[in-house]
Amino acid sequence: MADWDKIYQSFNKGGKDWQKINDGIMPQCFINGISPLFIEFISKTNFKNKHVFDIGCGNGKYLVFLSALGWQTDGIDHSKTSVDMTKQALGDKAGDIKQADMLKIELPTDKYDLIISISTINHCFKADLSKLINKIYAALLKNGKTFITIPDKNCLQTWKTFQKHKKLDDNTATPLIGPEKGIPHSFYTTDEIKQMFAQFKHLDMKQDESGQWLVMATK
Ligand SMILES: C[S@@+](CC[C@H](N)C(=O)[O-])C[C@H]1O[C@@H](n2cnc3c(N)ncnc32)[C@H](O)[C@@H]1O
Repeated sequence: MADWDKIYQSFNKGGKDWQKINDGIMPQCFINGISPLFIEFISKTNFKNKHVFDIGCGNGKYLVFLSALGWQTDGIDHSKTSVDMTKQALGDKAGDIKQADMLKIELPTDKYDLIISISTINHCFKADLSKLINKIYAALLKNGKTFITIPDKNCLQTWKTFQKHKKLDDNTATPLIGPEKGIPHSFYTTDEIKQMFAQFKHLDMKQDESGQWLVMATK
């Protein structure tokens, strides 16, 4: 995890951001790093309280986008530097933004309209992610929604970062080169995703150019 902090520290000193480090795996169609499918999802959906929680908020770009639309913005990231960047980007609009490990965090119940996690939540073993999805379900208000990216199992073959990898479990591996070396990443079949989100309703999955599934579901 310390490597993530190094990435953000280096970016702050003029280095590459994480999308450029992972050159070739991210869709080129992102607008300012925000998925156009996310913008479409937000513009087509009605939310009651506009209170969002971002898991792995990075430099805060998704929260900044939502804040400009009047959302209350909470979030976590394991990297202290990224938490500082997010707080700075949100300024006095920042909600509860803190350094935390998504795998250890306790989430409140029935609190959020929307829980998002972009290019983050698969940084773990599958059993841990299933437990986190259950916590996300509990933390959503009734009719609250998720927008979560989860990579398809084929990404393990197509992503440049994983050209050299060590298998850790079924479709779970760690890259042997690059900044994410040593961190487990899980890859999923569509059936596995459907099973993981079985307690949600209105499951909608769209695949982006990088092969990630954008998983939208309602409590
Ligand atoms: C690929 S970046 C994505 C950042 C942001 N969501 C975005 O779209 O720009 C992955 C982020 O997940 C964070 N992260 C990785 N593992 C984590 C964990 N166990 N708990 C919390 N954050 C984690 C990293 O620090 C990093 O900011």
